Amino acid sequence: MACPPAAPPALRRWLGLGLFVLLCLSLGYALEKKVIKSKAGEKIGLPCCHEIPSTGSLHDYRVYWQKNTTDVVLAYAEGKMISQHERYKNRVEMDTRTLTLWISPVETLDNGPYQCVVQHLRFSQNSIVVCDELVSLFVTAEFSKPNITAEVSAHSCESTEMVVRCSSHGGFPKPKISGALNNVSVVWNASWVSESSLSPYNVTGKLLLNVTKDISITCSIEHNGFAKSTSLLLRKMNDCIVPTVPPSYNVVTASSIIIIIFLLAITLAARYLLRHVCSHCCKPQDSVEEGVKECTKPPVSSKVTSETSSV
Ligand SMILES: *[C@@H]1O[C@H](CO)[C@@H](O)[C@H](O)[C@H]1NC(C)=O
Ligand SMILES: *[C@@H]1O[C@H](CO)[C@@H](O)[C@H](O)[C@H]1NC(C)=O
Ligand SMILES: *[C@@H]1O[C@H](CO)[C@@H](O)[C@H](O)[C@H]1NC(C)=O
Ligand SMILES: *[C@@H]1O[C@H](CO)[C@@H](O)[C@H](O)[C@H]1NC(C)=O
Ligand SMILES: *[C@@H]1O[C@H](CO)[C@@H](O)[C@H](O)[C@H]1NC(C)=O
Ligand SMILES: *[C@@H]1O[C@H](CO)[C@@H](O)[C@H](O)[C@H]1NC(C)=O
Repeated sequence: MACPPAAPPALRRWLGLGLFVLLCLSLGYALEKKVIKSKAGEKIGLPCCHEIPSTGSLHDYRVYWQKNTTDVVLAYAEGKMISQHERYKNRVEMDTRTLTLWISPVETLDNGPYQCVVQHLRFSQNSIVVCDELVSLFVTAEFSKPNITAEVSAHSCESTEMVVRCSSHGGFPKPKISGALNNVSVVWNASWVSESSLSPYNVTGKLLLNVTKDISITCSIEHNGFAKSTSLLLRKMNDCIVPTVPPSYNVVTASSIIIIIFLLAITLAARYLLRHVCSHCCKPQDSVEEGVKECTKPPVSSKVTSETSSV
């Protein structure tokens, strides 16, 4: 920022100058804490502390844009770009008059304090203006909508044991993960991964649940004052009939085998009776049919009783 010169008369001039110096200092102090917020992917401009007057030209200056006081992001000398940081290649440009550094698209890795250093070449080698105002860049990134998956690990008639996972990725800064089971808050066993302290985070929450009835689970990713939520209905498995079916099926087959064996035994017995007993008692040819009926009746009733007893 440029502080206009004070009025000429002596006392007023000194007073004025002092006031301006104070003003400049306080402004500088205020700017020192300046934080510029942005979202990953956007274009952002970082203001420089010095502006080339309309009568001047970039050819008369050296401009260094530094990050974290150690890395040179972009440097200009005598109107030409002399240096550009590898990480910022094709993403930065500088306004040739305001010396604003434009970054597009901005990344979370760009986070940190920036500073511009301006040197006037025409008049003196020592006329260096170092901005005492650091501009802090704070880039945030949106998290993806949380994704909930549920996996049945075991189940019985009473409950279904599930492994529930909630994940979200690509956001910055580190988020909070919270959950609710039918409105009752629940704590996820959370883990965060990030390649570096300034890289986007992936977050995963894990939960082991015994589901005794259908229940709704909600996962919320809170970050930067905003929350993104997803809900999933966890269904208790209602296939209690399934495990009881195979045994009953076995009972049916076993009992039918027993019945078949009984029937076989009965028919064999009936044939034996027909040959050895009925040949003596049922003499007339006509009454053979009736005799067969009479003789087979008792075994039939015994078959019925055996059937009912076995079931
Ligand atoms: C600034 O650089 C120093 C040394 O290279 C490093 O330890 C520090 O973490 C950096 N700070 C930021 C905010 O990048
Ligand atoms: C959620 O995660 C599952 C398993 O990792 C994956 O198959 C599915 O595509 C994901 N859904 C979304 C919307 O990302
Ligand atoms: C959950 O809580 C909110 C507010 O606390 C309430 O409006 C809503 O009806 C509740 N839902 C259930 C299913 O209890
Ligand atoms: C959370 O998960 C980690 C790794 O999977 C495990 O070591 C830890 O015991 C779990 N904590 C709780 C409270 O379940
Ligand atoms: C985060 O998740 C994304 C998408 O699932 C994946 O491509 C990336 O490698 C993950 N990052 C880390 C640090 O695990
Ligand atoms: C779920 O219930 C089974 C038995 O009913 C028990 O062994 C298991 O520890 C329970 N799991 C959880 C997470 O409560």
